[in-house]
Amino acid sequence: MEFKKVVLLGGGVLGTQIALICAYTGHDTTIWLRSEGSIGRTQPKVDHFSGKILEALEESKKLLGNPLGAYLYPKALIKDWEAMTEEKIDQLIGEAKKNFKDHLHIELDPDKALKDADIAIEAMSEDPQEKIDFYKKIRDSFDDKTILCTNSSTLVPSTFAEYTGRPEKYMALHFANEIWNHNTAECMGHPGTDPEVYKTVVRFAEEINMVPIQLHKEQPAYILNTLLVPLLDAGQELWAKGVADPETIDLSWRLGTGAPVGPFQIMDVVGLKTVYNIISNKADAKDSESLNHKILTMIGEKVDKGELGVSAGKGFYKYDK
Ligand SMILES: NC(=O)c1ccc[n+]([C@@H]2O[C@H](COP(=O)([O-])OP(=O)(O)OC[C@H]3O[C@@H](n4cnc5c(N)ncnc54)[C@H](O)[C@@H]3O)[C@@H](O)[C@H]2O)c1
Repeated sequence: MEFKKVVLLGGGVLGTQIALICAYTGHDTTIWLRSEGSIGRTQPKVDHFSGKILEALEESKKLLGNPLGAYLYPKALIKDWEAMTEEKIDQLIGEAKKNFKDHLHIELDPDKALKDADIAIEAMSEDPQEKIDFYKKIRDSFDDKTILCTNSSTLVPSTFAEYTGRPEKYMALHFANEIWNHNTAECMGHPGTDPEVYKTVVRFAEEINMVPIQLHKEQPAYILNTLLVPLLDAGQELWAKGVADPETIDLSWRLGTGAPVGPFQIMDVVGLKTVYNIISNKADAKDSESLNHKILTMIGEKVDKGELGVSAGKGFYKYDK
């Protein structure tokens, strides 16, 4: 194993998921938190997501022998699906429990947390000023060798590089929610990232069972969301203009492209509250004459009724809880 110690800076939804996958793959992993109060918020997330990971392994037994199994198995948890048996999955469950217990630590002292770290991943709230203040505060705690990555979804690393104290050892490494199933790690440097550091981060991604998605230059929203967001926007536009209903729009996309789901099915998975928040940040969303205002109102009506998507059992579609 090339990477011995990993540090997560921030223990929210993504920080805890990334930490668990690092521990699952046998890495000594520390989640740094800023206060005692943060521990009370992070520990339940660790418990919740470790439970989800163990559940995903248990559920994967039902996929053995199913031709769809090769598509549906939890890819960050099982490296060689073809070789899987119930006994091997039980073995993975046993190892996961042990690794979560032995390799995952929470630390409040930044110097102690970061001592000897090979790689640190910042997974703090998506607020640019908070991230800058944080980097300025913590930059003296890094060991010289430590590579620093940001998991930011929407901000590019060049915005922050100068505040990190280690611009050549800084880049983005972006993970997806439900990391145990969606094992992509988008690797994106800024113009000052050392190419050797970039290669090292790609190797790290592979070592924690991710598929590195390598970007050659900065791109806000990386590759996936650059493709996905216009699709979702276009679906919303067709719906709000009254051109067609969500079912017809999804059907058209599925039949025309062979994709398994359409834009409204995807929005139900993302969650309509998140979709609502994204639209409300658009420049013209407050202008009552604009199409985005109309889309916001239509989605807002669903949110007010509790139709929040798959997690609520109803969004654009009904789901069996
Ligand atoms: N939620 C997702 O689906 C998702 C997916 C990919 C990437 N991301 C990215 O991951 C990052 C974290 O997102 P999240 O969903 O885990 O957020 P979250 O709100 O669940 O967690 C944020 C964490 O940051 C900590 N934090 C906030 N301000 C801080 C400060 N000033 N000092 C120290 N710690 C502070 C919080 O205590 C919390 O532990 C963001 O950059 C986001 O864009 C999120």
